[in-house]
Amino acid sequence: MIPRSRKRNPASRRRKGSLVVVGTGLKAALHLTPEAREQISCADRVFYLVSDPLSEAWIKTLRPTAKSLFSCYIPGRPRMAAYRRMIEKILAPVRSGQRVCAAFYGHPGVAVLPSHEAIRQARKEGFDAEMLPGISAEDCLFSELGIDPVRSGCQSYEATDFLAYRRRFDPSSALVLWQAGVVGNLDYGGRPTRSGLRVLAQRLARVYGRQHEVVLYEASLLPVQPSTIRSTTVGELPTAGVTAGMTLFLPPRPHPPDSQMLRSLGLRQSDQSSFPFAGSRHRPDVRLFSCNSPCTHPAPRVSRPLQPS
Ligand SMILES: C[S@@+](CC[C@H](N)C(=O)[O-])C[C@H]1O[C@@H](n2cnc3c(N)ncnc32)[C@H](O)[C@@H]1O
Repeated sequence: MIPRSRKRNPASRRRKGSLVVVGTGLKAALHLTPEAREQISCADRVFYLVSDPLSEAWIKTLRPTAKSLFSCYIPGRPRMAAYRRMIEKILAPVRSGQRVCAAFYGHPGVAVLPSHEAIRQARKEGFDAEMLPGISAEDCLFSELGIDPVRSGCQSYEATDFLAYRRRFDPSSALVLWQAGVVGNLDYGGRPTRSGLRVLAQRLARVYGRQHEVVLYEASLLPVQPSTIRSTTVGELPTAGVTAGMTLFLPPRPHPPDSQMLRSLGLRQSDQSSFPFAGSRHRPDVRLFSCNSPCTHPAPRVSRPLQPS
């Protein structure tokens, strides 16, 4: 049974078509939630945008008539134009009264413009539209690097946005950078830009210094393949082989707690070890990568050992 839409338009404005956007996770066959699977199985029309052939094959087994949105991309042309084409493809059957499901890899609302925009537009036109959560690359990163984002805080930015808007960030919290492999490049396809990575490295070096650690992370899309986890430094970033499918993780820079604030809270410096989330030394944990896990998934591959602090 299809769950009832949680974001219904008032009955007076409601029109017959509807849209549900779901995430397939990164390993679609393993990460797809039961509610997302149900939506894919029961919708009148299904569209998908996934990043590997196995996920595509899995969606096709659920819905042989599902259509890929990949053809909306034109190599060398702006990604923004592709997103507009995707939105139109998704909304056309909604407007003709059909129940549409659009599946995007990872979490459908994380670093995905057409999903949010299609929902916004559908609601504006009076259709029911909602998004269901999925497992994002960042979720996989937290699991595999042993990071608790609440421990020291965690900031997450799209790399070009991070530079273009000179985002103010706190180096004593962790930093996650998305789409660093295409930083400064607004077109689809093409090569990662070395010049964009140089600008990114310069910006990061001013705050962290050139020696600060950067983890290059690419979650495995297949159960039989290990994830790629490589450690480099801010200074080496432009030549570290960052690809479009990678996410960067910068561990927090150690930072003492504010003594005045501690006093206001009635705490002492010596109480630090009792803080449940005292996270100034929160680093990716190399021990996690070498454990002999009893499950069938291989341990992630670490190309260069990470140094636990
Ligand atoms: C358009 S965004 C899509 C993100 C996706 N919706 C999610 O929830 O993970 C593409 C960016 O996601 C990240 N990404 C995608 N696949 C990844 C993977 N297998 N491992 C790590 N990061 C990945 C990279 O930063 C990449 O540039």
